[in-house]
Order: sequence, then structure tokens, then C-alpha cells
Amino acid sequence: MNEAKLHEFMGKLVGDMGGAAMLASVILGEELGFYRAMADGKPLTSDELATKTKCNPRLVREWLSAQAASGYVEYADGKFKLPPEQAMALANEDSPVYVAGGAVVLAAMFFDKEKIINAFRGNGGLPWGDHHTCLFSGTEKFFRPGYKANLVASWLPALEGVVPKLQGGAKVADIGCGHGASTVIMAQAFPKSHFEGFDYHAPSIETAKQRAADAGVTDRVSFTKADAKSYAGKDYDLVCFFDCLHDMGDPVGAARHAFEALKPGGTVLLVEPFANDKLEQNINPVGRMFYAASTFICTPNSLSQEVGLGLGAQAGEARLRGVFTEAGFKNFRRATETPFNLVLEARK
Ligand SMILES: C[S@@+](CC[C@H](N)C(=O)[O-])C[C@H]1O[C@@H](n2cnc3c(N)ncnc32)[C@H](O)[C@@H]1O
Repeated sequence: MNEAKLHEFMGKLVGDMGGAAMLASVILGEELGFYRAMADGKPLTSDELATKTKCNPRLVREWLSAQAASGYVEYADGKFKLPPEQAMALANEDSPVYVAGGAVVLAAMFFDKEKIINAFRGNGGLPWGDHHTCLFSGTEKFFRPGYKANLVASWLPALEGVVPKLQGGAKVADIGCGHGASTVIMAQAFPKSHFEGFDYHAPSIETAKQRAADAGVTDRVSFTKADAKSYAGKDYDLVCFFDCLHDMGDPVGAARHAFEALKPGGTVLLVEPFANDKLEQNINPVGRMFYAASTFICTPNSLSQEVGLGLGAQAGEARLRGVFTEAGFKNFRRATETPFNLVLEARK
């Protein structure tokens, strides 16, 4: 045993345990409005934050102390301050780097521990809808800022000839749409087009309908509960899969159904978590987070469905290309990427 290596690993574990504890603190800060109350960047005492947010002063002081020890807030002369960079990540839901939603997603992994243990000891399956509801709200919160920042500005323009079609009036399907964040963002940008969101999880479809109503886009958006292999729509110019194909039991079947539902000349937009093709290339902070979440959420969901391919959230471009080639697509390419997303285009 190498004692220096042991100390190094213990240091890493202490850091990880602190990180996990801080994610619970982030959820509190988000729900109780602490970050928003500090978003102006003005230094304040813990009592002032407690008054501003109508929360217990002693608990607020403890929460702020943990935030200071983590570098989430700065502490000097008895006052705490949220720096502008941290405010972008934790206080502003419209910022492209808002990540507080991620903490809500990861909470589901703790809430659902017993269910996932049963899945490990059983057939591996745990359906999306059997998770704690924080998974559904957290997924929307976590993914929406990325879609808001990238979808209209760079992902759709990276597809061949799609934006002019959307501007003129196109028919679009959003498969596995969840709470409809991507569907609503596209509908707001392209008022002449029609958008149909499908998801097999009924409560998510109900929330998506509410989101469309709140955004005032119900004239061009509909949401229907349907599996990725059985929705009835046809003649789509664009079929989208946002962070959901790898969750499906039969991604080849879903891609084949998209092939049949597309108009001639139509396009599939496939957005998947960023990954390289081999595990050795994914041994990094992004791979670490996605593999861990995939163990609890994505892979068990896939294993709970027909075929149960279990692609996992780190499938990588080569395996995804294989899925689309098997489904009949002749053209498949990486249109663009972000540190968190592969953005792929498939055409007949
Ligand atoms: C990680 S969430 C992504 C949701 C949404 N696309 C987003 O980006 O916010 C995966 C979604 O895929 C849906 N899903 C999983 N398997 C499905 C299937 N076979 N057919 C339709 N939807 C499915 C789940 O219900 C869930 O809403």
C-alpha cells in the first residue's frame, strides 16, 4: 500500500463528499430563494439574508458558511457576497450556464436508491415514470438553459437547409419531449411552423401542455402521450430527439419509426450527451457525471422497455451512427457539439 496515494485518494473522496452535500445545499438555495436574493452581488450579513428571504437566521448562517467554505459565495468582514459568475450558474434561470437544475436531477438518485438496488438485483429495469418527481422537474430545469442558448442560435442552423423550412412553415415532431422545453423554444422562434411533442410519460405530457399555454404557443404546438415507436404523425420535415434516444429500450425501432414518419428530404436532429466512442476517452469530469446518472436513470429506463438495448448516456457517435444506419438512414454526421452535447444529423 502506498500511503501517499491513499492520502491523495482520501482527499479526492472528501472533496466528492463535500460536493454531494453541497448539491443538497444548492437545492435549498434555489428553493428558498437565497441565490436570487444575493444575485445583485451586494455583500450582506446572514441576518440580512434571513430577513430578505423570511427564513430562520441561525440556519441561514450555517447554510452561508457552507457556501463560503465551498467558494460558492465570498466571505469577508462578517458579510457574504455572491460573485457575478456564481450568480450566472446558480441564480439566473435564463443564463446559458445555469446548472442548479442538475442538483435536482441528481437528488433523484438518492431518493430512488431502494428502487435501483432492486433493479440491480433483478432485470435491471426502472421506468422513467417510477422515479421521484424531482427527476422530471430537474430534467427540465437542467436542460432548458442549454436549449435556450443553443437550439435556435446554433444547433438548428448547423443542419442542412432546416432553418429556411422552419421559417416558411414546417412540420416538426419532438420525440421524448418531457416537459416540452425544446418544443416550446422552437415554437417561439418559428411561429409559422407546427410542433408536435410526444412522450410516453403521461404526467410529463400534462406539464408540457401547461408550458405551451403559459408561453402562448398552443396555436402551433400539441403534446400527445405516445411511445417513440407508435406516434401517428407523418410527413414531418424535422424529427427531433433531445437527450432521450439513449433512454429508450429500442433506439433502432425509434429511429426506424422516425425514418417512416419523415417527408422525403426530411431531417432527424439527434441531441445526445457529449461522449467519445470509448470508455478510455470518457474518463473525465463530464463522462464521470453522465455515467453515474446513466447507471441510476438512463440505462435502467432502457432496460425496462422492449428490446432493452441499454445504450447508456455515453454511447458516443459511432454507436449512434450504427443505430441510424440500421434503421435505414444513409446520411449521418456530427452537425456541431458543445462540451455537454453531441448534435447529430440523420437524413434518408
Ligand atoms: C432525459 S428525458 C429528456 C426530456 C426532454 N427531451 C428534455 O430534453 O427535456 C428523457 C425522456 O424520454 C422519455 N422516454 C423514454 N423512453 C421513451 C419512449 N420509449 N418513448 C417516448 N418517450 C420516452 C422519458 O419519458 C423522458 O421524458
